Amino acid sequence: MKFETPAGTNPIDQRRVIGKPTPRIDGPLKVTGTAPYAFERNDVAPGHAYGVIVGSAVAKGRIARIDTADAARAPGVIAIVTHENAGKLGKAKAHTATMLAGPMVEHYDQAVAIVVAETFEQARDAAKRVRVDYARAKGRYDLAAAKAGAPIAPGDKMKTAVGDFARAFAAAPVTVDATYTTPDQSHTMMEPHATIAAWDGDTVTLWTSNQMIAWAVRDMSETLLIPKEKIRVVSPYVGGGFGGKLWVRSDAVMAALAARAAKRPVKVALARAQIMNNTTHRPATIQRIRLGADRTGKITAIAHQTWSGDLPGGGPETAANQTQLLYAGANRLTETRLAVLDLPEANAMRAPGEAPGMMALEVAMDELAEKLGMDPVRLRILNDTQVDPEKPERPFSDRHLVRCLEEGAQRFGWARRSATPGKMRDGRWLVGMGVAAAFRNNMNMKSGARVGVDRKGMVTVATDMTDIGTGSYTIIAQTAAEMMGVPLDKVIVLLGDSRFPESAGSGGQWGGNSSTAGVYAACVDLRRRIAQKLGFDADRATFADGKVSDGGRSVDLAKAAGDDGISGEDTIEFGRLNDDYAQATFGAHFVEAGVDAHTGEIRVRRMSGVYDAGRILNPVSARSQVIGGMSMGIGAALMEDAVVDPRFGYFVNHDLAEYHVPVHLDVPHQEVVFLDTLDDKTSPMKAKGVGELGMCGAAAAVANAVYNACGVRIRDYPLTLDKVL
Ligand code: MOS
Repeated sequence: MKFETPAGTNPIDQRRVIGKPTPRIDGPLKVTGTAPYAFERNDVAPGHAYGVIVGSAVAKGRIARIDTADAARAPGVIAIVTHENAGKLGKAKAHTATMLAGPMVEHYDQAVAIVVAETFEQARDAAKRVRVDYARAKGRYDLAAAKAGAPIAPGDKMKTAVGDFARAFAAAPVTVDATYTTPDQSHTMMEPHATIAAWDGDTVTLWTSNQMIAWAVRDMSETLLIPKEKIRVVSPYVGGGFGGKLWVRSDAVMAALAARAAKRPVKVALARAQIMNNTTHRPATIQRIRLGADRTGKITAIAHQTWSGDLPGGGPETAANQTQLLYAGANRLTETRLAVLDLPEANAMRAPGEAPGMMALEVAMDELAEKLGMDPVRLRILNDTQVDPEKPERPFSDRHLVRCLEEGAQRFGWARRSATPGKMRDGRWLVGMGVAAAFRNNMNMKSGARVGVDRKGMVTVATDMTDIGTGSYTIIAQTAAEMMGVPLDKVIVLLGDSRFPESAGSGGQWGGNSSTAGVYAACVDLRRRIAQKLGFDADRATFADGKVSDGGRSVDLAKAAGDDGISGEDTIEFGRLNDDYAQATFGAHFVEAGVDAHTGEIRVRRMSGVYDAGRILNPVSARSQVIGGMSMGIGAALMEDAVVDPRFGYFVNHDLAEYHVPVHLDVPHQEVVFLDTLDDKTSPMKAKGVGELGMCGAAAAVANAVYNACGVRIRDYPLTLDKVL
């Protein structure tokens, strides 16, 4: 089904199941510890061995000699794979760093070997006995130094210009010119990367933890140099990804190589400490923002230049994304530059681009409001736009930023805020309030599904979509239940297997809207087949209460399915509505923060937001997504910081004891309101993404509240107490 014209009324609008607060259908499996995650699939790999990956001890250089003799003699060792005996490997186009180093080393902790043994302890012990001599080369690890002369990054919209920014900025009576820095960050998902690989002849199956099944098959094919048909990827449960599992990583590649060498299934998990340097991270940014406004607060000039670094051939953090779309202003400039760094591979982490970009832009807006002597909520409302500011002939599909700001301000009690910092006090705490807009692009991706009804009237959906903790199982079940006119408990959802139709996968907050739209399309096909079989008019037939009806006739769905059952399949594809309209999600974050007047300790005391993300398919899981994003915003504002050792080129704090993320005590009560609008240009579901929106702008709202509390403007994240004092 090609989605090309705005969605008219369709069965989803009935809202019998869609839009109802629905607990996760996979919840019982998860809370009883019986949802099978990749590392726990002992049932599928009898007689499996364990693999432990050896990582490079240097960040850049060459493997001069690798000696596995001692390791091979260790108890229980079955096989050792290095670049010397791995056979010919390709490099997946989607990978910047290769998954197995040798002879060249591209980054610290890049896999140089995998040791396979009978037990995990034996493999870990033997891995320590692999001796590698390196010829170390000089690397570049410091973004501030590497940014000089960094070129515009490859890709679309890495440099945009409208009007004459320089002239308008020079002429503006009120200006801000400030530079902000955000640190490297790590996804720190709960479940580490893990894979069980098993070969059957020339076919390999990977039970793994991955967000994008079809990409995984493609990348494994390009790496192992075997056809896609010879690869099966299974990932029905994923304990968090945040972008760190968008592409297969060394656990999957090395498990496949190890299983081939050992002639047995092999199980590999990355240790927590390996995730930081062996996999990917969100790169640090340096962002310069210049805003010029007239005395009424209208923005006349807006520029955002951003720098990040990656290995040669890598990509940038697209931190100027939102600045191209969020506020009006006739004279505009954005530049996204990319430096070469020899740190581990930089890549997508939740809301890549907007997450760090909003950390800068929304503080700059706060600084501009202060210089104007204007309320920061009013400043944002005044500069709202209903069209793409770089392309005024391109409207937003649906945009309610102003409503989010107004309703949020009212609910939060924004009127009680003092415009002058340092005026509110609660005992030893200096208390302040901050606001920031929320903004994240809405992308839609092609997504397929198969839906069948059996002779008992059970509806089964199969798609290679993943559920990374987001609630995909539940919204897909709700979609099928709505479309087929059955209660939720009559729907079975099967996800995360490359044998199922190819879906959008979980990434870029496109998964919820796209994958349910794919299920919608498959259900439309199934409804048509059922109607045809019964001799009903396919356009008129209705599906409700477990029956299909046309005029006076009504047949039980189970009966219509017959002994053999009946199934439909389709893929939703997105056409020009994606280009003709700017599609995005919006919101307003409000934060109350306390700063200890003596120690500088910072605490978020209240946090709330109003969000505009089209139809909310399930208010329970959507809220969970948004509060997770807001919590990650607290982490980004106050603690997350992967510290680079500039001498050796690696992230020093590589565990959860030293890479800090918010815990329960760091997160106050969070209030979430969805406008629950309908966007008929996004898909037949009229929904948009919510998975990343809650994060975008949240950290800036914290930073603005800290400023309002104590009057110290920090432009270098995270905001730690030493920077307040
Ligand atoms: Mo997301 S960073 O596309 O998983």
